[in-house]
Amino acid sequence: MIIAVDGPTASGKGTLARQLGQHFGLPVLDTGLLYRAVGYQTQLNHGDPDDAADALAACDFPDSLLDDPALRFESTGSLASRVSVHPAVRAALFQRQVDFANQPGGAVLDGRDIGTVIAPHADAKLFVTAHAEERARRRHAEMRARGVDINYDAVLADIHSRDARDTGRADAPLLRADDAMLLDNSAMDRDAALAAAIAFVESRVRRPS
Ligand code: C5P
Repeated sequence: MIIAVDGPTASGKGTLARQLGQHFGLPVLDTGLLYRAVGYQTQLNHGDPDDAADALAACDFPDSLLDDPALRFESTGSLASRVSVHPAVRAALFQRQVDFANQPGGAVLDGRDIGTVIAPHADAKLFVTAHAEERARRRHAEMRARGVDINYDAVLADIHSRDARDTGRADAPLLRADDAMLLDNSAMDRDAALAAAIAFVESRVRRPS
C-alpha cells in the first residue's frame, strides 16, 4: 500500500506521515529532507541556490548529509524551497523517490508532489493543510521552545513566501490531487487528525475495485 501525504510548510504532514507509517507498519520517506540536503550542499559548495547548474551539482550530496541536524534549520528550509524550483533538481531526485514508493509492501511518502507526480497511483492520498496564521503560530511556538529568538511576524512572512514559491513554480507545484482527501487541521489536534487520516486510508483500501 502506498500512502501519499502532501501539503504546505508547517502543516503537520511530516508528523502525520510518521504516525501513519507506524500505524500501518510501512517505511516513511520525508522527501523534503532530500531537497533540504540539496539546498544545504549548494551552500557548502559556495553555490547559488537560484542557479540551476549550481543546484544540480549539489544533487550528488553524500547520504550521510541526511543525518545532519542543520538540515532541520529554518534557513535550510528556505534554501530547499529555492533549489526545488529547478526542473533538473526535481528530475535528479525523482527516481530515488519513485523507487522508495514502489518497494515491496509499500510506503508512506510526504512532500509536495507525491500524489501528483511521484506516486499518482498511490492507494490513498492526503492533502494536509491549515491556515497560514495557524501554521505560523505552531511553528513559532515550536521554535521558541527550542530557544530560537524569532518573532511571529517573521515566521508568518517566511511561511507566505515558501507557500508562494511552492505553489507558483512551473514544475510540480504544490497542488491537491483530485482524489486526495483534504485534511484541514486548523481546528484539530494531532489525535483527531490521525484518526481522520486512518479512517480515510482504510476506506480507500477497502473500496471495491
Ligand atoms: O517539507 P519541507 O519543509 O522539509 O520541504 C522543504 C522544501 O522542499 C519545500 O518548501 C519545498 O519547496 C521543497 N519540496 C518539494 N517537493 C517535495 C518536498 C519538498 O519541492 N516533494
